[in-house]
Parts: sequence; structure tokens; C-alpha cells
Amino acid sequence: MEKVKIAVLISGSGTNLQAVIDSINKKEINGEIKLVISNRQNAFGLKRAEEENIKNIFVDPRNLNDENYDKKLIFELEKESIDLIILAGYLKILTKNIIKEYKNKIMNIHPSLIPCFSGKKYYGIKVHEEAIKYGVKISGATTHFVDEEPDGGPIIIQEMVKVDYDDTAESLQKKVLKIEHKILPESIKLFCEGKLEVIGRKVKIK
Ligand code: GRF
Repeated sequence: MEKVKIAVLISGSGTNLQAVIDSINKKEINGEIKLVISNRQNAFGLKRAEEENIKNIFVDPRNLNDENYDKKLIFELEKESIDLIILAGYLKILTKNIIKEYKNKIMNIHPSLIPCFSGKKYYGIKVHEEAIKYGVKISGATTHFVDEEPDGGPIIIQEMVKVDYDDTAESLQKKVLKIEHKILPESIKLFCEGKLEVIGRKVKIK
């Protein structure tokens, strides 16, 4: 089977990107990362890509509205004939044109059990601060296809972690990050094997 051409969009440290790189290097995924794009010039994830000789570019968001920014993204993605886009800590909202162009071909990783602690204002450590504040007994991570609703697309995989009484937002983040690094490569593997079928709001794993 032909290798799936993958692009990863990042904004930060890129530990999820690294987990995907490592899984591909272990030949677990029938895919190849052709491109890493960041909206932040100092994103450490760009260095991780460089380290692996993966094409990586900073697309500067200054002086570009969201529509024109996404037009630049689409131009770069089409240049590499990308089949699957991964949002790995990508902190910019995608506009409807790119979501339409890549329907059910954009995957996101979110550090909670969606629909809890998800949506526009929930990202990074804030997700875990709200979970700790609420006093939840379990949390976890979710991979999902991206649609126009932030964190709202069809769910692919969810995995939980127990939240202990003395957990802090930071200690919970560490626990959940471990799960993220497991279920994101797993989700990509299934996509690359053609095993994900989206039926309405639900994803069937064949
Ligand atoms: C992860 O917690 C991810 O769930 C969230 O942003 C964080 C990115 O971390 N979307 P990294 O850049 O992959 O280390």
C-alpha cells in the first residue's frame, strides 16, 4: 500500500510530533511526514523536524487574516500532495475552506475526554486546571477528525487516566501527555491502514 503523505501542524514543543516521528521510525505507521508547519517561529517542534530531515516551515501569521493564512497553508499542503493533516498542539483555529478541502483528513489531539473541557477556550494547561478545579475523578485524551466546531469533530480514540486527590494541573498534564503520545500514533496508524470510516458523527474502526 502506498505510504500516506502526512503534514503536521504545530505551535509549540512538538512532543506529539515526536511521538509520531518515533512510531514511523519504528515502522508502525504506513505513512511519511512530508511537512511540518508552525505558526510560531520559535516552536521547538520545528527543530525536532529539522533533526529528522523533515521539511519544516514557519508560516508567519502577522499581516494575514485567518482566510489568507489558510490559503498559504493549502498552497504548501498541495505542493506536497498531502493526504492527512495532523494538528499536534496547533493553536490556531482552521477556517472552513481548509476543513472543506480536507474533510475527514484533518486529525486533532485534545488533552481531555471530549466533550468535557473542550472547545474554543480550552487548550494547553487550562484544560487540566479546569479538570482539577472541577474535581473530576477521571480525565484523559481524545483524537478526533476536525470539523468547523473547535474540538467538535467525530471522535476516533479516547483513553482515560485516573485523577488522584493530590494531582495538580501539572501532574495531570504529565499523565495525559503519556496517553496522547500513545493514541495519536495509534489513530494515524488506523487511518493509514484505511480502517477509519466516518458515519455521521461516529467513527467506525474496521
Ligand atoms: C498537547 O497537550 C495537546 O493535547 C494540545 O497541546 C499540547 C501540545 O503539546 N493540543 P506538544 O506541542 O505536542 O508537546
